[in-house]
Amino acid sequence: MTPNKHVKIVDLRSDTLTKPTQKMREALSSAEVGDDVFCEDPTVKVLQETTAKMVGMEDALFVCSGTMGNLIAVMNHCNVRGSEAYCGDSAHILLHEQSGAAQIAGVNLRPLRNNIDGTFDLCELQSKLRHDRDHEPISKLVLVENTINGKIVPQSWLKELVPFCKKYNLKLHMDGARLWNASVGSGIPAKEIVSGFDSVTFCLSKGLGM
Ligand SMILES: Cc1ncc(COP(=O)(O)O)c(C=O)c1O
Repeated sequence: MTPNKHVKIVDLRSDTLTKPTQKMREALSSAEVGDDVFCEDPTVKVLQETTAKMVGMEDALFVCSGTMGNLIAVMNHCNVRGSEAYCGDSAHILLHEQSGAAQIAGVNLRPLRNNIDGTFDLCELQSKLRHDRDHEPISKLVLVENTINGKIVPQSWLKELVPFCKKYNLKLHMDGARLWNASVGSGIPAKEIVSGFDSVTFCLSKGLGM
């Protein structure tokens, strides 16, 4: 196609295309470093301690990708062979993480129809839970993405989901790659958004700065 000089292209992409600001680059280059294997990287330690507090979790672990963080959560929560985890049918973990849950963790990801607001029907979830321990997989985990496809999952629904999962003895993980967008957009502190969840991942590679 020949470029049309009258057409002005406006690039509205953001998210992973954002770049660190000058201040962020300076902080990176002057950061104190150490051996993280011996838990002696002071910057990583501060990062983990600070972020654990921000999301109200016991502890945090810095890993190099969101995919890796999600997989670690799945492997921790689905700690018996033949586990099953439930997620929306447009969830990143289902569609874009090479089915690491199946490949590496041996976990069956069972999709639930995502509503337009990013929720899924708790009746559908309930109907998919397994009861026959001899023949079926073992229901273990529910995964929620927030934000999902640019939408902030309604807090009222999360508040219904938490007791539901407790009732059925299911662990709850939030793929909060864009948790901070959800927090800023809704005005709800991240800690409150994930209240009652067993784990959360978030990314430092998205919506960075400019
Ligand atoms: C919702 C969601 N979860 C997880 C990831 C994975 O993050 P990463 O690319 O760091 O593995 C992404 C990446 O875009 C994402 O959008």
